[in-house]
Amino acid sequence: LIEQKVDSILKLMTLDEKIGQMNQYNGFWEITGPAPKEGQAAKKYEDLKKGLVGSMLNVKGAKEVYTLQKIAVEETRLGIPLLFGFDVIHGYKTISPIPLAEAASWDLEVIQKSAAIAAEEAAAVGINWTFAPMVDISRDARWGRVMEGAGEDPYLGSKIAEARIKGFQGEDLASKKTILACAKHFAGYGFAEAGRDYNTVDVGEQTLQNVILPPFKASVDAGVRTFMNSFNDLNGVPATGNKMLQREILKGNWNFDGFVVSDWGSINEMIAHGYAKDSKHAAEIAVNAGSDMDMESYAYVTYLKKLIEEGKVKETDVEDAARRILRTKFELGLFENPYKYCDEAYEKATVGKKEFHDGVLEMAKKSIVLLKNDNDLLPLSKTGKKIALIGALANDKTSPLGSWRIGADDETAVSVLEGMEAYVGNQLSFAKGTTVATGRTEFMWETKINTSDNSEFSKAIAIAKNADVVVMVLGEHGLQSGEGRSRSDLGLPGLQQELLEAVYKVNKNIVLVLNNGRPLVIPWAKENIPAIVEAWHLGTQSGHAIAQVLYGDYNPSGKLPMTFPRSVGQVPLYYNYKNTGRPIMNEPESVFWSHYIDEKNTPLFAFGHGLSYAKFEYSNLTLSKKNLNTSEKIIASVTLKNNSKVKGKEVVQLYIRDLVASSTRPVKELKGFQMIELNANESKVISFVIDEKMLAFYTNNKKWETEPGDFKVFIGGSSDATLEDTFQFLN
Ligand code: IFM
Repeated sequence: LIEQKVDSILKLMTLDEKIGQMNQYNGFWEITGPAPKEGQAAKKYEDLKKGLVGSMLNVKGAKEVYTLQKIAVEETRLGIPLLFGFDVIHGYKTISPIPLAEAASWDLEVIQKSAAIAAEEAAAVGINWTFAPMVDISRDARWGRVMEGAGEDPYLGSKIAEARIKGFQGEDLASKKTILACAKHFAGYGFAEAGRDYNTVDVGEQTLQNVILPPFKASVDAGVRTFMNSFNDLNGVPATGNKMLQREILKGNWNFDGFVVSDWGSINEMIAHGYAKDSKHAAEIAVNAGSDMDMESYAYVTYLKKLIEEGKVKETDVEDAARRILRTKFELGLFENPYKYCDEAYEKATVGKKEFHDGVLEMAKKSIVLLKNDNDLLPLSKTGKKIALIGALANDKTSPLGSWRIGADDETAVSVLEGMEAYVGNQLSFAKGTTVATGRTEFMWETKINTSDNSEFSKAIAIAKNADVVVMVLGEHGLQSGEGRSRSDLGLPGLQQELLEAVYKVNKNIVLVLNNGRPLVIPWAKENIPAIVEAWHLGTQSGHAIAQVLYGDYNPSGKLPMTFPRSVGQVPLYYNYKNTGRPIMNEPESVFWSHYIDEKNTPLFAFGHGLSYAKFEYSNLTLSKKNLNTSEKIIASVTLKNNSKVKGKEVVQLYIRDLVASSTRPVKELKGFQMIELNANESKVISFVIDEKMLAFYTNNKKWETEPGDFKVFIGGSSDATLEDTFQFLN
C-alpha cells in the first residue's frame, strides 16, 4: 500500500521536487522569530517554500517543528512533509549513560528501553528521526567517538545495535512515541588511523567483512530505516562516494530499502580528500555511489539537475533516492498527520517525565563496572565511617551528561556529591583537589587542566588524612571524549594522577570512581588502589546510580565492552586478536616473538571483565558431544556458583576459536552471553547452544562459510575465560 502511495506522489513530482527530497538543511536560526531575510538562513527558507528541502536537522521544539512543517505542508506545491533529524544519541533531555557505558551493561532489554525513552522524549519535541545508533566497532581508545558506540566486539555490537534500533523505532513507526533510527557511520569510521578522528581508514577485506560490517548488517536485519555514511575514506575511496559499500553491499546484497544520508558536509569533503574536483563533481560521485540525502553540502540542490542534463547522473537514481525518502515519510504516518509530533501540551507533559528519570537511573546502575575490589573495601558502610570525597568531577553537574547530548541543559545531572549526600548528609567531607576544564576551548587542551589553587590540593590531603575511606572521582570531563576529541595520552588528564598519588601517601583506603568516555590507561591505580569503579558518564541520574553502588544498594554487574590497555603504545589492543606466527612465550628464549621489550602484551583490564559484590566461580565445562554436523547442535554447559553471602548477577560469556582455517582466525570470538542472577551460595548449570551458523566467517571465497575442523570453546566471566573444551565440525 505504501508503495502505491509513493508511486502516486512521485508521478506528480517535478525533477526539482525529487531532488528537493534529497536535500537536508541545518536549522540553526530562531525558527519562531521573523522569517530570515539574509544570508544562508534566508536561502534555506526560500528553498523550503519552493519544496526544495526534504529534511531539516537540529530543529527542536513542538512549536519550532510545527512552524517549519506548516511551510512544507501549506506553502509548497505538493505539501510533502519534512523529516526532522537530530542527534538523540543517549537521550534527548533526560540523559541516559553514554552508549559505551550502556554497552557495559550487556543488558539488551534495558538498552532497548533506554532507546525507547529517548525516542519518546525526542518525539514529543517534534523530532522524528535520530542519527543513532552509532554501530562503528573500534579497537582504539584514542578515538574520542568510542564513547558513542558499543565497543570493540562485532557480536556484542550487533546485539546492541538491534536493541537500540528496536527501542527507537518500536513496533510501529506511525506511533507518536517512535522515531526513525539511523545506523552510522557506514563504514570503517572507528578504524581511523592512530585513533585520530576523520583520519584515513585502510583495512583488509577480512577486517571489513568480519569485524566492521556485522553490526551494520544486524541493523538492516533489525529493520533500521536509515543509514548515515561516513567522513573517512575506506581503502582509498571516501565512504560518501563509495559505490561498493552503498550500492553493492547495502542496497544490493542486503536489500536495504530505506535511505542513506551523508554525514555533515561529507559530500563536499570529498574535495579535500582529493577525490572530487569541486562540489558538482562531488555531487555526481555521491549520488552515483548511492548516497540519497545531502546533509549540508548544498551539492545536490545546486548541481543534480545539471548533472542529469549532462548525462552524468541517471534520473532513475534520483527517483530511487526520492522514493526511499518518501517511503519513510509514509511509514512515519507524516502524510496522514504531518503535525503528529507537534503538540505543545503533550511536549510539556512528556519531557522529563518521572518514568524517564527512573529508566535512565536503572540504565546507569547497570552500566557501572566494578573493576577491582580488594578486601571487599566496597560496599561502603552507611554509618559510622568518616568518608572523604575528592575530585573536581565529584561535584560537577554537567560532566556526567557526557558528549553528544545537545538537547540537554548544562548542570542538570545529579553529581556524585549529591548522590552520596542523599545517603549520609553532610557527614561527608569534600574537596576538589584540582580543577576541571569545562570551557569549550579549554577542554581541548586537557593537559592544561590543573590547579593554580594550591589550597584545594592541600584541603584534599587534609580531609584524606582524617578519613576512614577516601572516594576519589577522577577521569575525563564529559566533553573530553566524543567527536573531534581524540587523545594521544590515555592517562588521567591534568594533575589528577599527581593528586591520586599524593592522597595515597596519606590514606591507602581509596575507592577510585572513574568518569570517562573511553578506556583509560591507569596502571599505577590498578597496582595500588584497592577498589576501582568504572562509572563512565552516566547521564542525568549519574550521582544516584554511583552512590547506590558505592553503598551496596545496587550490586554491580557490568562488564567492559572494550579492552583497557596498560599503555597507549599497545593500542589498538583487543581481545579477538590473531595469534601470529610468533605468539606469546611464557618463558621467552629470545626476543624474537611478537611482543614489546618494555611492556606486556596483556591488557590492564580485559574485554568482558567486571566484578560483583557476589563472588562467582566457574567449573565443569562440558560439551554434549564432540562432533558437530550441519543442522545439529552441541550444548555447552558450565556450572556457575555464587560463592558469597549476597545475591548477584553475572554475565556468562561463551567464546569460540576456529583452530585451523583458510584464513587466520582470532584466538577467540564472543559467540553468546547470558545474564544470570544467583542467590547467595546458589549454583546453576548454564547452557549455550552451538550450531554451524555460529562458526561461520567471511572467507576468501567472498561469502560466509563454516569450514570443517577443530574448534575450542571457552566459557567464563570475561574474555580471559580459562575453562575450555574442544569439538570438531564435520560438515
Ligand atoms: O550525526 C552526526 C554525525 O555523527 C557526525 N556529524 C554530524 C552529524 C549530524 O549532527
